[in-house]
Amino acid sequence: MGTSVKRGSPPAGEGEAERRADERRLAELRAEIDRLDGEILRLFNERLERARAVGAVKRRLGLPVRDMRREAEIFRRLAELNRGRLLADRHLVRVFAALMAAAREVQSDGAHPADGFGTPALFAVFGNPVVHSLSPVMHNAAFAATGYPGMYAAIRAKDIRPAMAGVRALGFRGASITIPHKEAVLACLDFIDPRARRIGAVNTVVNDAGELKGFNTDWEGIVRALGERVALAGRRVAVLGAGGAARAAVFGARHAGARVTVYNRTRDKGEALAVALGADFRPLEEFDPADCEILVQATPVGMSPRTAETPLPAERLRPGLVVMDIVYTPLKTRLLAEAEAAGCQTVDGLSMFLYQGARQFELWTGLEAPLDIMRLAVETELTARG
Ligand code: ATR
Repeated sequence: MGTSVKRGSPPAGEGEAERRADERRLAELRAEIDRLDGEILRLFNERLERARAVGAVKRRLGLPVRDMRREAEIFRRLAELNRGRLLADRHLVRVFAALMAAAREVQSDGAHPADGFGTPALFAVFGNPVVHSLSPVMHNAAFAATGYPGMYAAIRAKDIRPAMAGVRALGFRGASITIPHKEAVLACLDFIDPRARRIGAVNTVVNDAGELKGFNTDWEGIVRALGERVALAGRRVAVLGAGGAARAAVFGARHAGARVTVYNRTRDKGEALAVALGADFRPLEEFDPADCEILVQATPVGMSPRTAETPLPAERLRPGLVVMDIVYTPLKTRLLAEAEAAGCQTVDGLSMFLYQGARQFELWTGLEAPLDIMRLAVETELTARG
């Protein structure tokens, strides 16, 4: 293939010699690439031979083919090895996810049904706007890593009703619902999880053999992300905002045994939420950090592109306060930067996003979510976007 370079009309003298030299160089480089591809293929197959041997040993030991912890360790090690190299992490994840899927198939003697090339299970996030959603990157990485034959897209939906009719008609296996449809979607479903009904918002739809079931995984995401840093039971939690995200935060904190005060700009909306979910209410301008140990920022304030905004002046923060922002674009919102400077412990929105997504993945597939890979995929994408 190296000799198939097309020649134009030959320029005279020196130019021609340079051109020939370049053509030779191109042919050499291509020959090296062909040799390296052959070497990579040989290494891939050598690796798969080891995987087959591992499969035989696992069967004798009665161990399952799937070992999520081992797979996560492999990805962590590879990401570490790859630091500073030319291969972007998102491609690293793709290449090795495919290799691991092949290894699993070989280990299980070709019995693995999910090769990713059959009819895929369709998923999408429906929202407006939705183009910047990180959910496709996160879920497609999870599908690739687990070998689940899913495909996940972002679909802009002005109206959620026809979108859900489409989910039914086209046999989508599941959907994520985001702004501004999390409340309106309730009217389109056959079953609503009681906790989602109490929150009044659904962010996850499971198509269970034609029956559309709605769940809310935001609250679990918030509780798990916060719970990693601080015990919630008996603590005083302040939630800023009274929209869908705030409702999930209030429900989650109450569920975990915290005492909650809602702080909102608009009194009626804040009071209604507080009454519905067993919290107190105070106007936003009355926020006093002495009244809580944990602050959850659940409004869109500070979200890209309006990154200069913050819902609380910096002087309302105090050392030792745990401050969580559910906004994750940018990861360090102005509120979190000021909280850090004021000596607060900060929790960014990425963990919440990952944990709500992990729960979605589990509801759709019944598989354990490959969290490390999902995190790597999302972090890489955020870095690439700058
Ligand atoms: P979501 O469902 O994503 O939470 P939402 O339903 O639009 O979004 O709710 C947004 C919340 O952020 C509301 O509580 C809103 O306050 P109001 O009830 O007073 O409208 C709050 N919010 C939005 N912009 C705000 C701002 N600039 N300052 C304070 N609160 C704000």
